[in-house]
Amino acid sequence: DKGPYRHFMLKEIHDQPQSIARLLASVADTHAMTMKPFLPDLDFSKIDKVTLVACGTAYYACHVAKTWFEEIAGISAEIDIASEYRYRKRIHAPRELVIVVSQSGETADTLAALKDVRGHVAARLGVVNVATSSIAREADHVVDIEVGPEIGVASTKAFTGQMLALLSVALKAGVERGQIDKAHLASLVQDLASLPRIMSETIALEGRVSEVAQEIAPARDAIFIGRGLQYPMALEAALKLKEISYIHADGYAAGELKHGPIALIDRDMPVIVFDSAGPLQGKTRSNAAEVAARGGRVWHVGHDAKGGIQTPECPDRVLPFVYAVVAQMLAYHVALAKGTDVDQPRNLAKSVTVE
Ligand code: M6R
Repeated sequence: DKGPYRHFMLKEIHDQPQSIARLLASVADTHAMTMKPFLPDLDFSKIDKVTLVACGTAYYACHVAKTWFEEIAGISAEIDIASEYRYRKRIHAPRELVIVVSQSGETADTLAALKDVRGHVAARLGVVNVATSSIAREADHVVDIEVGPEIGVASTKAFTGQMLALLSVALKAGVERGQIDKAHLASLVQDLASLPRIMSETIALEGRVSEVAQEIAPARDAIFIGRGLQYPMALEAALKLKEISYIHADGYAAGELKHGPIALIDRDMPVIVFDSAGPLQGKTRSNAAEVAARGGRVWHVGHDAKGGIQTPECPDRVLPFVYAVVAQMLAYHVALAKGTDVDQPRNLAKSVTVE
């Protein structure tokens, strides 16, 4: 049921403050400011390496989680696309955890990757939205993201649910590996606890995002750039835009622009800059200035992004959730402006059960 919403995708975007709050209640105790004892049988003091494997949007959740595992848990993390991972020669470590992420729990390549590593690694964790799915049944440990059915082909609330699940697992790993003391954990849980409110504040930007969408809708191509945690969000934003508006879009690490893609810049190339605060903001801004100097049209998305899309202030750690929601709304409003089929884009299936 779409309720008052015109499309399932729009409903699912608006579901996110609730879906995130629900998952949060399962993994964290926001009164005691600690994590709840989820995944009790998975002990990170016995894990030295994490490999995250998925397809599409779920892969971008893995991409951002790599940084969380490294920074919060001090654990080496690798990522791979399931259709590549399953066919290459892999060097496994004895104390390795493989995490596969899949909304449907039925994606053929992701399921095959999970089956392939059985017996070769210490443990296999599935992060799914369907507790009865093939991946949930095959995995040794399961986190259910509990975001409810996702009907729109473009993944929205499952993506933010996957990010929160992986961030929570990284926190659990940090605690069990002795990387986080009580005070640090309390501040991290505080960040998580702010998420439902921050997501509501971001959704409230829909009017402004829709104005920007009208300007981008006539373009044939578009580029998103970001650094650090926002680089995977740039990739996700580009996927979302191409998936439902059929605008060819790419996401780049901002520092990569001058290594090739800047040749594409002209008046007809919108460049959306995920201009997040932090030590590298100056560098991202100078990349944006290089685009503008070559006649490119630039929109900044950030807390102090004047003239672009001004986002709510929030801790760095949870900024990807803000950018994810902006990316979803931008793609949605561009698709609406173009009149494409938002919930059932051409050539795509919700669940890819063939290779
Ligand atoms: O069900 P899964 O999470 O395994 O699906 C993976 C991809 O097919 C999926 O995320 C796809 O990229 C989405 N349509 C993106 O919005």
